[in-house]
Amino acid sequence: MTGDTSPPNHQRTITIPIMSSTRAGAANSIRVNGGNPLSGRVRAHGAKNAVLKHMVAMLLAPGRYRLDNVPGILDVDIMGEVLDHVGASCTRRGPVIEVDVPERLNPEAPLELVRRMRASILILGALLVRVGTARVALPGGDDFGSRPIGMHLDGLEQMGAEFELRHGVLEASAPNGLRGTEVFLEFPSVGATENILLAAVLAKGRTVIGNAAREPELADLASLLNAMGAKVDGAGTSTIEVIGVPHLSPADHTVVADRLEAGTYALAAAATGGMITVEGCDPSFLRMELRKMEAAGCTVERSEDWFSVAGPDRPEPQDIATLPFPGFHTDMHPQMVAFLARATGTSLVTENVYAARFRYIGELNRMGADIHADGQHVVIRGVDRLSGCEVDGCDIRAAAALTVAGLTADGETIVRDAEHIDRGYDGFVETLRSLGADVDR
Ligand code: UD1
Repeated sequence: MTGDTSPPNHQRTITIPIMSSTRAGAANSIRVNGGNPLSGRVRAHGAKNAVLKHMVAMLLAPGRYRLDNVPGILDVDIMGEVLDHVGASCTRRGPVIEVDVPERLNPEAPLELVRRMRASILILGALLVRVGTARVALPGGDDFGSRPIGMHLDGLEQMGAEFELRHGVLEASAPNGLRGTEVFLEFPSVGATENILLAAVLAKGRTVIGNAAREPELADLASLLNAMGAKVDGAGTSTIEVIGVPHLSPADHTVVADRLEAGTYALAAAATGGMITVEGCDPSFLRMELRKMEAAGCTVERSEDWFSVAGPDRPEPQDIATLPFPGFHTDMHPQMVAFLARATGTSLVTENVYAARFRYIGELNRMGADIHADGQHVVIRGVDRLSGCEVDGCDIRAAAALTVAGLTADGETIVRDAEHIDRGYDGFVETLRSLGADVDR
C-alpha cells in the first residue's frame, strides 16, 4: 500500500504547509553529463519511510511534538497536509518539525491526498483507536501492481474494527473500541504491521503481531511510541508484542537515517568507479545490499554509523532476490539494476515484493542497456557502455536509477519527471554535485 509510487497529482497546485522551500516550481528534469567518478562524503538525512509514520503516531495523543532529522522531501509535505486536514498543525524549521495535535480530530483522509501518497492510509489504525471512527479514501493501483490493503483491514477487524466501502471511501468504526488480539500476517507487510501497531498501542489488552515486518524504520517507530508511553516489545523482530495503555503523551524524537538514500549514493559512486563515505547510517541497515556490492567487486568498509564504498571499473554480474528486511530491499532494486547494466556478464534480479516494478527497464534499454523482464525476473546482460539520452523518471527509485545510469553513460542524459526524486531525496542534485557529478536541474 504505502510507498514510492502513488502518482503525484500534476493537475493540482501543491500547497506546502510546512516547508520553507517551494519545490512546486522546481524544474522537472535532471540533466547529467556522465563520466565523472564520484568521490567524497555525504551524511544521510532522516528516513522517508520512518518520518511519515512518526507523523501519524503523533495523532495518538494531543499536545506538541518535535521531530528532528526530518528530510526536506515532498512526501513529508504531503503528510503535513494530511495532518492539517485531520486538524493538527505542522511547522518546519530546517530539519525540525513541530506538530501540534488538538484534543479533537477530524478523522478523515480525502482521495486527493491518498492518491498523492499511499502512506496516508496509515492514519486508519491511529484514528480508529483515538477517535473511534475514520473515513479514508481507498488508494487504487499503481505502477507496482494493485497494492491491496487486505492485511491492514484483516488485522484491524480482528481487533474489533468494522469497515464499509461507500463510494470509494472506507468508512471504519470500532463500536466497542479496539482490543488486543493475536494477528498473524500472511506476508511481513510494512504498512500492515504499522497500521496494526499504531492501533494496538491504545487498544485494550495485549496484541501480538506475528510474521511482522522487521524494517529498521519500524523499530524507530516503536521507539517513538515507547517514548510516548506505549509498551511495545520486539519491534525489529518478526514478533511484536504490545500491551495497550489508556493514554499516551507527546514526545520528541530524532528520525533514523535513510538507508535507501544512503544506498543510492553508494551505488551511484560505485557505478562510476568512484569512492564514497556515507555518514550517519548504520551499515547493518544495508547488510544485504552492501554484501552484494562487495560480491560485485566493490571495496566496502563498515563502522558503527558510517560506511565507505569504492567501485570497480566494471561490476561482476550478480544474482539478487528482493525480500523483506533483512533481505535485499525492493526500493534498491532499480538502482542495483542500473549498476549491473555495465557488469562483465549476465545478472538476474528477482523481484519478490511487487508484482510490477519494471517500467524503468525500457528507459535503461534506451540508454543502450540489454535488460529484459520475464515474469518477476529481470535478466541483465552487461554492456560495455551506456549512452545518454532522454528518459522518463516513472517513480522515485526509477528516477534515481536512471540518474545513476546517466552518471556512467557517454554524453548527456535527461531524466524527465524528476519531481519524483523530490518525494524521497533531500537535495539530490546538490549532493551528487558535491561528489563531483556534472548534474543540474
Ligand atoms: C513500504 C515502503 C515502500 C517499500 C515497501 C516494501 C513506506 C512509505 N513505503 O511500503 O517504499 O517498497 O514498504 O519494503 O514505508 N500487500 C498486500 N496486502 C496488504 C499489504 C501489502 O498484498 O494488505 C503486498 C503489497 O501489494 C506489496 C507487498 O505486500 O506487494 C509489500 O507491501 P508492504 O510491505 O505493505 O509495503 P508498503 O508498506 O506499502
